Amino acid sequence: MMKFIKSSLTVMFITIISSLFASNEVSIVPAPVSMTTGKGYFSLSSRSSLLINTGDKAVKDIASFLNKHIKEFYNLSNLTIENGAIAGKGSIMIKLDKGRGIKPEGYELSVTRDNIEICASNPNGLFYGMQTLFQMMPPEKKEISKIKIKCAEIEDYPRFSWRGLHLDVCRHFMPKEFVFKYLDYMAMHKLNTFHFHLTDDQGWRIEIKKYPLLTEIGSVRSETLVGHYYDKNSVYDNTPHSGFFTQEDIREIVKYAAERYITVVPEIEMPGHALALLSAYPELGCTGGPYKSATKWGVFDDVMCAGKEKTFEFLEGVIDEVIALFPSTYIHVGGDECPKVRWHDCPLCQQRMKDESLANEHQLQSYFVQRMERYINSKGRIIIGWDEILEGGLAPNAAVMSWRGEEGGISAAGQQHYVVMTPGSHCYLDYYQGNKETEPLAIGGYTPLEKVYGYEPVPAALSADNAKYIMGAQGNVWTEYILTPDHVEYMVYPRAAALSEVLWSPKESRGYKSFLQRMNTMIKRYKSVGLNYCPNEFVKKTEKND
Ligand code: ACM
Ligand code: ZN
Repeated sequence: MMKFIKSSLTVMFITIISSLFASNEVSIVPAPVSMTTGKGYFSLSSRSSLLINTGDKAVKDIASFLNKHIKEFYNLSNLTIENGAIAGKGSIMIKLDKGRGIKPEGYELSVTRDNIEICASNPNGLFYGMQTLFQMMPPEKKEISKIKIKCAEIEDYPRFSWRGLHLDVCRHFMPKEFVFKYLDYMAMHKLNTFHFHLTDDQGWRIEIKKYPLLTEIGSVRSETLVGHYYDKNSVYDNTPHSGFFTQEDIREIVKYAAERYITVVPEIEMPGHALALLSAYPELGCTGGPYKSATKWGVFDDVMCAGKEKTFEFLEGVIDEVIALFPSTYIHVGGDECPKVRWHDCPLCQQRMKDESLANEHQLQSYFVQRMERYINSKGRIIIGWDEILEGGLAPNAAVMSWRGEEGGISAAGQQHYVVMTPGSHCYLDYYQGNKETEPLAIGGYTPLEKVYGYEPVPAALSADNAKYIMGAQGNVWTEYILTPDHVEYMVYPRAAALSEVLWSPKESRGYKSFLQRMNTMIKRYKSVGLNYCPNEFVKKTEKND
């Protein structure tokens, strides 16, 4: 009997060890829908051939992407890219096949000892299949002549279509080169929507040719608050802060993103968070100014005047150029945190309310947003705004970004409007992710990795019919307390990796333990590509206790 128990234990032990080994060997984040690993490896060397089954430029570019990756990581020379329909021995086939019924953005990846095949209905699926293949290669950058890739069959597709990450470049400007890196890391995690927060009280960061003062004046603030907003004595750094993206920069960013199957959704804030705009064009405010770009954080009473026709004419001019630069279907119009005190005291705003039979200033905000919606819809685009756009009545075609909890999202989906969930509690990546005493200064909150991982974007309160209006979720990265690209990365990773799994992987197959284990390999990859990250959950317990 004892012998039987012993041998059973041995078998169990071996099973556990080998399953650990297998999952260690293939560590993919976000976890694929299904994966079975087989015996043996495909051996990728400079003698392997790279086949594509179409002359489609997007597919060729994905093949070149593979070449670039193996050169950068392993110093392996370019594989020649050939057209071919049959995957021979030693070949990697990248195959567009609309007839196989592979889901949107999904792919099938087959690795045998003889060959590799990535198949998808669309190039975006091939791109994600390629990202998975990269994760099956060694995470360290080192010269190798033969890359061993574990035999496996993978079937994969995302749970949500909006897998977003946001970046505020207004509170602290971030250079274009960093935006490229940000997009690279998003692609690594199969995130597909970059919400580019371009205008706010503290700086206007996008060149608009019709209104040059927006950047000449509005992109500069005289100084910046040092320390926390709630510190007893406010201290300022006495140093101007500035920076903006030219239209050429924006075109480069949009192209770079598109090459990684990322849509850039621009945000032009209205009618609030407008001090930088008003500093340049004071005639668009209720009082006429003068105004100054904000040097501290928060919400300011001076907003765009809703009574003046020229406010709308001006914004239409801005939107014309924004639409020409960004192909995104959605244009974010902000709409959050717009105090109503100036409107209450402004004869023109009050006249507008009379003329339009608006009962209160919330309805005036709704009028503002709906009017801009009509203009944006007339150009074939759709607006998305923060959940305040629900107050006073939702614009007919607007999508809602739910940030003050989930209520806004539940209400909008209940009204059959599309929704992106970004509740502060789980999706604000500017919140603390560890102990306040030891973490760098942050805005507040507490959103550790496990909390992000545990997020469920579809609120239980929604019926199945209304749940389909939840397009996905997004991590928001406000930069009041984040001054440098390195610090942005520290705040975003690994929490954005957790969010990527929330958004991509099937709900029932998610598991935090497995995620952490797979992240050990991902972190080696972060180190290889120079991505800074918060190590809190990956420091050995003994070190943690030191
Ligand atoms: C927000 O955080 N004000 C949308
Ligand atoms: Zn006014």
